[in-house]
Amino acid sequence: MVIEMDTERITARAEEIARMETVRLLERTPGSSALHARAVRSMPMGVASSFQANDPYPVYLARGAGSRVWDVDGNEYVDFHGGFGVNIVGHAHPAIVKAIGEAASTGTHFAVTTEVTVALAEEICRRFRLEQMRFVNSGTEATMDALRVARAATGRDRVVKMEGSYHGHQDHLLFSVVPEADALGLLRTVDGESIEGAAHAYTTRPTSLGVPRAMWHDTIIVPFNDADAIESLFSSHGEEIAALIMEPVMMNIGLVVPDPGYLERVRELCDRHGVALIFDEVKSGATIAEGGAIERFGVQPDLACFAKALGGGTTIGAFGGKASLMSVIGKGAAQQGTFNGNPLSARAGLAALTQVLTPDAYRRFAELGTMLADGCRRAIEEAGIPAHTMDLGAKGCVSYRVGPLHNYRDYLETNPALFAASFPWMVNRGVFLTPGDEEQWTLSVQHTEDDIRRYIDTFGEFCQMLAG
Ligand SMILES: Cc1ncc(COP(=O)(O)O)c(C=O)c1O
Repeated sequence: MVIEMDTERITARAEEIARMETVRLLERTPGSSALHARAVRSMPMGVASSFQANDPYPVYLARGAGSRVWDVDGNEYVDFHGGFGVNIVGHAHPAIVKAIGEAASTGTHFAVTTEVTVALAEEICRRFRLEQMRFVNSGTEATMDALRVARAATGRDRVVKMEGSYHGHQDHLLFSVVPEADALGLLRTVDGESIEGAAHAYTTRPTSLGVPRAMWHDTIIVPFNDADAIESLFSSHGEEIAALIMEPVMMNIGLVVPDPGYLERVRELCDRHGVALIFDEVKSGATIAEGGAIERFGVQPDLACFAKALGGGTTIGAFGGKASLMSVIGKGAAQQGTFNGNPLSARAGLAALTQVLTPDAYRRFAELGTMLADGCRRAIEEAGIPAHTMDLGAKGCVSYRVGPLHNYRDYLETNPALFAASFPWMVNRGVFLTPGDEEQWTLSVQHTEDDIRRYIDTFGEFCQMLAG
C-alpha cells in the first residue's frame, strides 16, 4: 500500500517535471521546430527513420566533434546517445577522418572487392571467432541474411526469437517486438490454435502493418532466460526449426544479462536438435568487449550478426560464423548487395577496429562505464528513486524499476513517466540521450571523466527533484 502511494506520488511528480521541462525544451529549440515543420513535408514524421521521431518534434543535430554534438540552434551537448550505439569512436576522430579522406580521394565505391575489405573481413573473423563472414549495410540485412543461410543449410523454415526482442525491420522478425501487456494475451499456440494468456512458446500477430499474415506461423516466440521453454518447444517441434535468433544480452529493453548457464544450455539444446544458433550482436558486438558477447560470455553461436559500431560511424553490417553454414552461399543461397564491403565503410571500419578500438579502449570503457553506473546508483539510492543501473563496457542504462530485469515482462514493470521526465531534464542541461527508455547510453573513446561527472551531476539533480 505504501509502495502504491509512493509510485503514485513519484509518477505525478515526474509528469509535472516532464511538463515544465518540455516547455523549456521547446523554448530552447526553435530551429528544430522549424526544421521539423519543413521535414514533415518530404518525410513521414519528419525523420529518416521512425526511431528518430519524438514528440512533438526531435532535436535535430547539425554537427559533432569529440564527445560533443550541437543542434541546429547551436546548443551544445555531451553525446551519450551515440547514434544508437554506433559512435564508440566519438565524432570526427582523427584516425577515422584520415581513413574517410583516403577513401574520398581514391574511390568510395567500385562494387568490386578491395584489399581493405579483405583486411576488415579478417579482423572481424579474428575478433568474433568466425570462420567466414559476409558484408551487408545494416543490422537488418545482417539478421535477414543470417536467417536465410540458416534456413538454406537446415532445409527448415521456422525460426524462434525472444519475446520483446528487436532484430531489425525485416518481415520475418517483426513479431513480439514491444508487445503491450494486453497483447501478450493475444497468442496462438505453436500449432496455430487460439489461446488466451501467457504461454512458454507461442506465435503472435506481427508488430507492424504490412507484414504478411502468412509469416505468423513461422516465427515462434519464447521468453528470454528460460531454457526450459526452449527445451519443451524443441522436444515437440525441433525438426521444423531452422534457427534460434537472440541477443545474448537483451539490449532493446534496457540491458538484460543472461542468467549464469543460460547461454550454455541454449547452445546445447540447439546442438541436440540441429537448430542454428544465431547471436544478434548488432548492439553488443564491439561495444561490451573487444569480441562482443561471444568473448564476454564464452559461448560460440553458429552464426552472428553485426552492424553499428563496426564501421567507425559509417554504414556497415556483417554476419558470419561456421564455414559449414556459410558455404551455402555460392551453393544456391542468395547473399548480395551493391554496396556490400564498399571501400568507404571498409576503410573507416578497419581504422576503427585496428587503430581506435584497441584493448586499452575497452579497459577505458569499463572504467568510465563503472564510474557512470556507480554515480547514477548513488543518486538513485540517495533520493530513493525506484530505478537501477546496469553497465557492460561502453553500454549501460538507468531502468526505472527497482530490481534488474530478467526478461521482457519485467520491462513492462518499468515506470515510463520517470524516463519521460528525465529525457527533457537531461537534454535541457546539455546531456544528449536517446529518446526512448529501451535504449542505453553509449560511451566513446573521446568521453572524459568530466563528461561522465556532468551526466552523474545532472542525473543526481533530477533524482532530487523527483523525490521532491
Ligand atoms: C539488436 C538489433 N538487431 C538489429 C538491429 C537493426 O539494425 P539496423 O537499424 O542497422 O538495421 C538493431 C537496431 O537497433 C538492433 O538493436
